[in-house]
Amino acid sequence: MPVLAGPPDGAKMPDWVRFLGHFHPVVLHLPIGVLVLILLQELGAIFFRRLNEPRRAALFPAFFLAASAVLAVLAGFLLYHGGGFENNPTAERHLWGGLAFAVLAVLTCLARAWTAEPTSNPAIYRLLLFVSAGVMGFASHDGASLTHGETYLTDHAPDPLRKLLGLPAKKAPANQTAAKPVGDRLAYAEVVAPILELRCVSCHKEGKSKGGVKMDSYENLMKGSKGGPVLVSGDSAKSHMIGLISLPEDDPDHMPPRGVPQMTAGELLVLKWWIDKGADGTKTVKDLGPTPEVSVALEKVGPAPAPAVVSGGAPQPSPAPAAPAAAGPDAALKAAVDALTKEFPGAVAFESQQSSAVTLNAASLRGTLDDAAFAKLAPVLPHVVTADLSATKLTDQAVAALASAKNLRLIRLAETQVTDASIETLLKIPTLESVNLYGTKVTDAGAVKLAGLPNLKRLYLWQTAVTPAAIGTLKEKLPKCEIVTGT
Ligand code: HEC
Repeated sequence: MPVLAGPPDGAKMPDWVRFLGHFHPVVLHLPIGVLVLILLQELGAIFFRRLNEPRRAALFPAFFLAASAVLAVLAGFLLYHGGGFENNPTAERHLWGGLAFAVLAVLTCLARAWTAEPTSNPAIYRLLLFVSAGVMGFASHDGASLTHGETYLTDHAPDPLRKLLGLPAKKAPANQTAAKPVGDRLAYAEVVAPILELRCVSCHKEGKSKGGVKMDSYENLMKGSKGGPVLVSGDSAKSHMIGLISLPEDDPDHMPPRGVPQMTAGELLVLKWWIDKGADGTKTVKDLGPTPEVSVALEKVGPAPAPAVVSGGAPQPSPAPAAPAAAGPDAALKAAVDALTKEFPGAVAFESQQSSAVTLNAASLRGTLDDAAFAKLAPVLPHVVTADLSATKLTDQAVAALASAKNLRLIRLAETQVTDASIETLLKIPTLESVNLYGTKVTDAGAVKLAGLPNLKRLYLWQTAVTPAAIGTLKEKLPKCEIVTGT
């Protein structure tokens, strides 16, 4: 087949090729399971003669089903609790669906054993078998949505089939743009839209607008969500969507969510460039003036979407273009970050090569980062956009220094010594969108004040002294904010 098809070229392939190709992850599980089943049964027959008896041999597949379902759920449970699926209703439903399936599989196996005599009535066994299959269908659909995005199977379905399934018709392919020189392409329609289509639209479109965000048209993109615009024309650094894409991949707010194919560095570079140039809807690439790095990246991103990685999971290694000094952070900031990186390895970093936004992650400093050490970070605080300070030795005194972090969007102070006094500091940072105070000493008195953070979208108050009454007040004042209390 590789010889017949020649080198892969996503641009030339008709849609049905991709449509059928997306069934690979569905079909591939079949031979894996069946092979293991046959292998185990054969090994069993070699070592345990009794397995050769027809009654026992017939029972084996049911036993295999039950055992493998239980193993899958156990492993899934560990994966879920390993992190990265916080506030993910699909993951939660998948977990319950998987558990229900495993229980049914075990019952099916028992029923098979009870009805193994040729004279017994197989009704119960059959019923359980069919119900198991149905539950497995639901559970695996959620699992597939988590890994590949919800519409992975239907994205390239031919139009008649889409009609049958009640899906909107596909947009006409812009196939003549493939040959167009990069500079003549329309910056939105032929460059940015295909990137969003590839990485974001499966979850952000009419009828499936996760987080209230739609990105299937220029108008919808500019409209943003109920919580506000997702981009700021002319300023990618202040654009919410860029912020989310730039978060570390294991951050629960990271976009696209962990597990689905990720943006490449080139795609991100192009997206930022387009926003910085005003997020125009009609101009061509040439009109907007690409930098040399952007021109290089453009060759790779549009208009034919690169085939998405099927494996899901690992971020794609992508050639990060060398950042010219002019576009990146200024020299003083760079020097400060470099110095701090030596002192706190892995804790201080630029969000991306082109940006002067700094991320703080004290995961490797838990137990050692105290107020005195934290004071050394003062020079970079105004550039910090995300700060994970969980489980450090910091107190209210260190947090007070964060009043200068005027670009801070996310802060985690979980399991630190901070009290209500730190909330007074947080109120001075109106850019905050996500605040984690899990396992701290904050009380109602401090918590209700958080209503004064206009952009707050997520607040963790799990395992604090904050009462349901105060949570109720907060929910009233911050209707758009998701408050996680663990109950
Ligand atoms: C696999 C599905 C999926 C993909 C793909 C995806 N998102 Fe999301 N997105 C979500 C979900 C789910 C939410 C809601 C998150 C929440 O409210 O906790 C969301 C929310 C958002 C929000 C709003 C967050 C907020 O603060 O209210 C933005 C902006 C966003 N996504 C941008 C993007 C961008 C940009 C891409 C492409 C690079 C993308 N998403 C790809 C699932 C997805």
